[in-house]
Amino acid sequence: MTRSFYIKTFGCQMNDRDSEIMAQSLGEHDYAETLQVDDADLVILNTCSIRAKAEQKVMSLLGYLRKIKQKKPELKICVAGCVAQQEGKRLVEKMPHVDVVAGTQHIYHIPQLLAEAQRQNGPRVAVELSDSYAIPRFIPDTGPSSPASAPATLQETEFSRFVTIMQGCNNYCTYCVVPYTRGREVSRNLKDIEDEVDVLVKSGVREITLLGQNVNSYGSTNAVTDDGSPCSFPQLLERIAGIDNLQRLRFTTSNPKDLSEELMRCFRDLPSLCPQFHLPVQSGSNAVLKKMNRKYSIEKYKYLVDVLRNYCPEIVLTTDVIVGFPGETEEDFAQTMALLESVRFDGSFSFKYSDRPGTASLALPDKVPEEQKASRLSRFQRRQDEISLERNTMYIGEMHEVMVEKRDTEKYRCRARTNHVVHVRSEEYLEPGQIVDVTITHAGQHSLQAQYGSNPIIS
Ligand code: 5AD
Ligand code: SF4
Repeated sequence: MTRSFYIKTFGCQMNDRDSEIMAQSLGEHDYAETLQVDDADLVILNTCSIRAKAEQKVMSLLGYLRKIKQKKPELKICVAGCVAQQEGKRLVEKMPHVDVVAGTQHIYHIPQLLAEAQRQNGPRVAVELSDSYAIPRFIPDTGPSSPASAPATLQETEFSRFVTIMQGCNNYCTYCVVPYTRGREVSRNLKDIEDEVDVLVKSGVREITLLGQNVNSYGSTNAVTDDGSPCSFPQLLERIAGIDNLQRLRFTTSNPKDLSEELMRCFRDLPSLCPQFHLPVQSGSNAVLKKMNRKYSIEKYKYLVDVLRNYCPEIVLTTDVIVGFPGETEEDFAQTMALLESVRFDGSFSFKYSDRPGTASLALPDKVPEEQKASRLSRFQRRQDEISLERNTMYIGEMHEVMVEKRDTEKYRCRARTNHVVHVRSEEYLEPGQIVDVTITHAGQHSLQAQYGSNPIIS
């Protein structure tokens, strides 16, 4: 009998991709996806623990599911991903209605874990992290009769997909839980990545985003080719960029400490590589960067940005910033604000520092009070929004290539090569996945507007 499952995904794009993999493996084991949590026989929470807030959301949803399970005892509940990894057994002690806890290296066999829980008539907790872990091959089956061909509803469109190239992290930034939740850095086999992209592109996918916590160190910690010959991240990019009919290639995320000139050159040399780069800086103060164990100075960061912009003047640069790291003074924060003025990021993701279990910064003195963190965050975001608007305004009147994602009420939601969301008016019907040139007519802080066809009205 086919059972139905519902997946709720928290956190990063890596988790989005993991949820697709879970959906695929469930599809191969007589489960079908439902979009209504109340209809599901199985609910999976794919969780994030990067900040305390993300974890609290998971806990409150689990509280809600406890009530549903009281009325529907046959409901199965699985907690997967980073909170599962972090909490392990503690999770079933606190939440006895949970049937399966699947850590980050155990998401590939949820159906088996569920069967084991059933057999032993009690929760199954799988959270062992192995240092010699090899990411399993998980090539999407996109055939028309395959249960897995039903979209996992995670992507905006089926024309743009994520492909995981590595997992884990060896950097140990002092605030970050990822080395504990995702384990040691493991790069995926090159041939598996190529095959996966190949299958996706042959099934009509036009845009691929390669994912990893620190893609620049791809291939540096384990062998990725069958004969043991090395392959660096720029070499991987070159191979993937050369796959026939792949129109757009992106990647995320990079650590500035490993950013090579060879990689920056790819933006000049590989036509399908989109001019967009996410380069988390975290702070503008060298003293804070040192306490964060980031292993670069702000002078080095600015130098890298200059080189990058030399190779690719149109590149859109985004970053991540943490405000209120332990010991951050007003003077340190002023340096982060000054960095905004000198680099002028196109956009940024900014967060209040959050203590995470097991991290080195947990024990650091001089925690910044909540009101101060909130004030710094809002000052930072206000200035970033102004800069984003100023930068976006420069696109007005220009022609840009966009890919259609979906139709919103009167406009089409599209994405430019620069990764800007562009809302496009068009008299002609546009198909999702279609790539067209549009004229930018209006700029906002977080998106652009454009017209497809003749006589754009520019505001
Ligand atoms: N507190 C606040 N922000 C954090 N990030 C990672 N760990 C923490 C933390 N403990 C932010 C960083 C990272 C992004 C994914 O999340 O900016 O780049
Ligand atoms: Fe969250 Fe990091 Fe885990 Fe992604 S890898 S889900 S951002 S904790």
